[in-house]
Amino acid sequence: MPPIIGIDLGTTNSCAAIVEGEGQVKLIPYKGGDFTIPSIFAIDEKGHELVGHEAKRQWQLNPKNTVYASKRVIGRAYSSEVVDVMKQVVAYAMRRGDHDDVVLDVAHKTFALSEIAAKILNKIRDVAQDYLGEKVERAVVTVPAYFTDRQRQAVKDAGRLIGLEVVRIINEPTAASLAYGIGKDLHETVLIYDLGGGTFDVSIIEIRGQIFEVKATGGDIFLGGIDFDNAIIGHVLAEFSKSQHLDLSGDPVAMQRIKDLAERSKIDLSTRAEVPFTVPFVTMSAQGMPLNIEMKLSRPLLEELTSGLVDRTMRIVRSVLRDSGLAVGDIDEVMLVGGQTRMPLVQQQLSSFFGKAPSKGVHPDEAVAIGAAIYASSLETGSATKLQLLDVIPMAIGIEAAGERFHKVFQRNAPIPNAKAITATTSYDDQTEVAMRIYQGEAELVTGNELLGDFLFSGLRAAPAGAARIEVVFDVNVEGILTMSARDLETGKQMKTTVRVTQH
Ligand SMILES: Nc1ncnc2c1ncn2[C@@H]1O[C@H](COP(=O)(O)OP(=O)(O)OP(=O)(O)O)[C@@H](O)[C@H]1O
Ligand SMILES: [Mg+2]
Repeated sequence: MPPIIGIDLGTTNSCAAIVEGEGQVKLIPYKGGDFTIPSIFAIDEKGHELVGHEAKRQWQLNPKNTVYASKRVIGRAYSSEVVDVMKQVVAYAMRRGDHDDVVLDVAHKTFALSEIAAKILNKIRDVAQDYLGEKVERAVVTVPAYFTDRQRQAVKDAGRLIGLEVVRIINEPTAASLAYGIGKDLHETVLIYDLGGGTFDVSIIEIRGQIFEVKATGGDIFLGGIDFDNAIIGHVLAEFSKSQHLDLSGDPVAMQRIKDLAERSKIDLSTRAEVPFTVPFVTMSAQGMPLNIEMKLSRPLLEELTSGLVDRTMRIVRSVLRDSGLAVGDIDEVMLVGGQTRMPLVQQQLSSFFGKAPSKGVHPDEAVAIGAAIYASSLETGSATKLQLLDVIPMAIGIEAAGERFHKVFQRNAPIPNAKAITATTSYDDQTEVAMRIYQGEAELVTGNELLGDFLFSGLRAAPAGAARIEVVFDVNVEGILTMSARDLETGKQMKTTVRVTQH
């Protein structure tokens, strides 16, 4: 049987792993070296498609045709606020697609976000095939716990586009907890604090031997290392405009150079107190003289610029703890996952809140892929490992009620798989269709939530208002993906569908 690999499809970096023969987990190296592949797709001026390191290498020179961090907007409505914010910070072009989705124009070609994810998945698959010397057709792929149904479906679609069967989607923090707890026969409660490049997730997970039960989860899919970089970029631009009276934000090449250096400086400041920030010949003065950026960044300055971001993560930690019904003292270990957790301020805040230093029990860059591989291997027929993952949905799922109110069918943190039925009826005489709009989120009004799609049940018998009744079943599977089915209670007529955004 060909192997199933585990893939951590990250906002900034992706990583794959596999469990080999005797239960050994191996990260899959790229050309013998790096274990991570930049989640970047580009088309160069010759029209060649580049993915990963090759795409990253030419990023500075070709910012408009280099797509990065696209995971932030995958499965998002074009009309959502996050897309507006994203449009302001990326150099590539984002447009509205036919289904209020986001499409990208790269070198005059149009790509759906699933297609970009597919390019990255395909690269990872190629690397894995080269390494393993056999075909790879199945994978367990991780997503942020805070992904909606629509975002999860988009990742499944990406696999489908390249003939890679995504046998299971699991949540990143849950995967990390597997990497930590597998085979140790633990009985403890861990809090996974996962601050990556693009997203922030917290999950509180009770480990009982081979059972990993998520008690509560929360996050922000728009909070990650990129925002720390942006805080530095904002500061640098403001300083430059103060001293030179020039705005660099409209110059994509200058911006790209600043962005690169901002990230490198941020990383250096995790181990150093101060770093120079120098970009030679960043632009020309009005007199045609070359101008440089020359300044210094210190760790205290970085902390001042980003403390608001760290505070946001801590607020989420507190609310997830509240949701779990546990107290600070009930958390046995705090695990750090994601590159941005290397920032000392993050570790200090967690230490002071929990009264103990976070555990170093997992590798922050590798734990998610390792967990995905462990889970993949447990799914193989004949596997001796009997792993049980009991996960939850991150946000409520429900329908639109009168006055645009959001009627919740499932509350956040509802265990999955899960099914609930509601009875719907007609509201006027001779009505033959019942329509529902399905949303996911925590806002009181549907307008504040993410539209998952429309559900239409037709073919009802013409009857007076309220006489025809249908039973609608909402079924959320183990992957957090919603399927709906409905039955006419009188005629027994049935239908079943995954919910999709179909019109706008
Ligand atoms: N030493 C460091 N100090 C601070 N930040 C760091 C350090 N090393 C890496 N980072 C940051 O971590 C982020 C990448 O983390 P990671 O690879 O875990 O993200 P990802 O898995 O791609 O994203 P996500 O999980 O959000 O989808 C980048 O923003 C990077 O700048
Ligand atoms: Mg990650």
